Amino acid sequence: MKPVLAIYPGSFDPLTNGHLDLIERGSKIFDQLIVAILRHPEKAPLFTLDERREMLESMTGRFKNVSVETFDGLLVAYARSKGAGAVLRGIRAISDYEYELQMALMNRKLDRRLETVFMMPAEKYSYLSSRLVKEIFRHGGSVRGLVPKKVEERLHSKVGRAYRAKPAKATAKRGKRNQ
Ligand code: PNS
Repeated sequence: MKPVLAIYPGSFDPLTNGHLDLIERGSKIFDQLIVAILRHPEKAPLFTLDERREMLESMTGRFKNVSVETFDGLLVAYARSKGAGAVLRGIRAISDYEYELQMALMNRKLDRRLETVFMMPAEKYSYLSSRLVKEIFRHGGSVRGLVPKKVEERLHSKVGRAYRAKPAKATAKRGKRNQ
């Protein structure tokens, strides 16, 4: 059988233990896995692209078949350019399903050869999201055990400053999953 290359796309702002859990699971079922950070999301990220890439690279170095890249434009076009046969996405709860279904079906409409594979992270991460991690930090709470230590340190040095300088607005949007 042909080796399967999969893309795990996302914002990773910041990387959480839920993302890492999924990367580990994906690395076991795919021959090669590219974690692909979206370069120009609609909303302004907290961490720069280089920071997110650096955190991901250092936390995924132990998985020999996992690499980290960035992409822009349509995911299907990027996946095609890499010769990928699958897109990996995580589903935590029913609330993720609608958005993920829409995206998977639209991607299939754009390129019928690209399959989306959904995996569930460990239960203990089913309520975890990058958005909540940022919000907890903004209010001085602890996210120990929810993000890698390195990410926690980065949040400590960056988020306090960032949020003090510019109070965060509520960014939750309807129709978009809780990242
Ligand atoms: O972790 P996120 O932010 O939910 O990831 C969303 C992502 C990056 C997978 C999605 O926004 C995406 O694929 N963007 C690239 C542009 C694209 O292809 N849009 C059409 C999707 S149907």
